[in-house]
Amino acid sequence: MSALDNNAKEIAEDTGGESGAISFPEINAKKQDNGSAGPVILFFIIGLFASLILGWIIFPKLLYSQKKQPIDFNHVLHMAEVDNGCESCHFFREDGTYSGVPKLEQCVDCHEEIQGISPEEIKFVEEYVSKGREVPWLIYSRQPDCVFFSHAAHVKIAGMDCVTCHGHIGESENLKIYEENRITGYSRDIWGKSIGGFKKNTWDRMKMDDCAQCHREYTANIERTGVKTPTNRLIDHLVDVVSPGTSISGKGSSVQTERGACFVCHK
Ligand code: HEC
Ligand code: HEC
Ligand code: HEC
Ligand code: HEC
Ligand code: HEC
Repeated sequence: MSALDNNAKEIAEDTGGESGAISFPEINAKKQDNGSAGPVILFFIIGLFASLILGWIIFPKLLYSQKKQPIDFNHVLHMAEVDNGCESCHFFREDGTYSGVPKLEQCVDCHEEIQGISPEEIKFVEEYVSKGREVPWLIYSRQPDCVFFSHAAHVKIAGMDCVTCHGHIGESENLKIYEENRITGYSRDIWGKSIGGFKKNTWDRMKMDDCAQCHREYTANIERTGVKTPTNRLIDHLVDVVSPGTSISGKGSSVQTERGACFVCHK
C-alpha cells in the first residue's frame, strides 16, 4: 500500500465515512473559490469599463485637437441676401476649376462698411476687410495633397448635390468646430465621427474607400442601364470570377485590384 492510499483511508475515517457527508477538504476548497472569484470578476469588470472609456471616449478626445474658425459664418443669413444662391460664393471658374472657399473679393461689396452690430461682422471688417487680409478659413473637407478631386466631374457632369458629400453646411447658421487629427493632420470629416467606422449618411466620412464605393456603384449603374446581351453578361461575369477587377463592370472588384485604378484619384 502506498502512502497516498494511507492518507485517503485516514481522511475517510476522520469524516466517519458517512455516505452523503461532505468532507472538509472539499468545503475548504469551495470557500476558497468563493473568496477569490468575487474580486477577480469585479476587477475584470472595472478593467473592462476603464479600457472602454479610455478607447472610446478619452483616446478620441486626445486624438483630435479642436480649432474654432477665425470668423463664424452664417449660411442661412447670407442665402437670404445674395442673388445667385450658393454660386454667389462657390462657383466654377471659366476653366472648369472650382473656386472653393470664397475670397474677400466676394464679400467686400457688402462689407466695405460695417452694416450691423454683430461682433462677428465687426471683427471680420476690422481685422480682414479693412486690412485686405484673406480669412484663413479651415476647410473641413480638405484631402491630403496626393488626392486629385474635381468638382466639375461630380457637380457638373454627374449632377450631384453638395449635400451628398458635405452634409448640411450650406443650411447652417454657425460653422462647426474644426477637428484636426494630431497624428495625420487630417480633418475629422475625412475619417468620420465614429471611431467604430459606422456610417449613416454619405457625408459622414470621405476616406479612400468612401470615394471608391460610390464610384463602384455608379459604374455598376451605367452597366445595368446600358444595353447588354446575355452572352456579354456571362463573359463579364466569368472574367470577374477568374480575375476580379479586370472587367469594366467592376463587380467584385475593389480599389486595390482594379488596373490603373489608383491614377483616377492619385495623379
Ligand atoms: C455669401 C457667401 C456664401 C454663400 C452664398 C454660400 N457659402 Fe458656403 N461658405 C462660405 C464661406 C465663407 C465658407 C467658409 C467656411 C469654411 O472654411 O468651411 C463656406 C463653406 C462652405 C462649405 C464647407 C467647405 C469645407 O469643407 O470647409 C460648404 C460645404 C458650403 N459652404 C456649401 C454651401 C452651399 C451648399 C451653399 C448654398 C446653399 C453655400 N455654401 C452658400 C460662404 C458662402
Ligand atoms: C449680398 C451682400 C453680402 C455678401 C456678398 C456677404 N455678406 Fe456677410 N452679411 C450681409 C448682411 C446683410 C449681414 C447682416 C448684417 C447685420 O445686420 O448684422 C451679414 C453678416 C455677416 C456676418 C455676421 C453674421 C452673424 O451671424 O453675426 C459675417 C461674419 C459676415 N457677414 C461675413 C461675410 C463673409 C465672410 C462674406 C464673404 C464670403 C460675406 N459676409 C458676404 C451681407 C453680405
Ligand atoms: C462627390 C463629392 C462632392 C460633391 C458632390 C461636392 N463636393 Fe465640395 N468637396 C469635396 C471634396 C472631396 C473636397 C476636398 C477637395 C480637396 O481637398 O482636394 C471638397 C471641397 C469643397 C470646398 C473647399 C474647397 C477649397 O479647398 O477651398 C468647398 C467650399 C466645397 N467643396 C463646396 C461644395 C459645394 C458648394 C458643392 C455643391 C455645388 C460641392 N462642394 C459638391 C467633395 C464634394
Ligand atoms: C457619392 C458618389 C461619389 C463620391 C463620394 C465620390 N465620387 Fe468621384 N465621381 C463620381 C461620379 C458619378 C463620377 C463620374 C462623373 C463622370 O465622369 O461622368 C466621378 C468622377 C471622379 C473623377 C473623374 C474621373 C475621370 O474619369 O476623370 C475623379 C478624379 C474622382 N471622381 C475622384 C473622387 C475622389 C478623390 C473622391 C473622394 C474624396 C470621390 N471622387 C468621391 C461619384 C462620386
Ligand atoms: C476613388 C478615389 C481613389 C482611388 C481610386 C485610390 N485612392 Fe488612395 N486615397 C484616396 C483618398 C480620398 C485618400 C485620402 C483619405 C484616406 O486616407 O483614406 C487616399 C489615400 C491614400 C493613401 C494614404 C496617403 C496619405 O497621405 O495618408 C495611400 C497610400 C493610397 N491612397 C494609395 C492608393 C493606391 C495604391 C491606390 C490604387 C490601388 C489608390 N490609393 C486608389 C482616394 C483614392
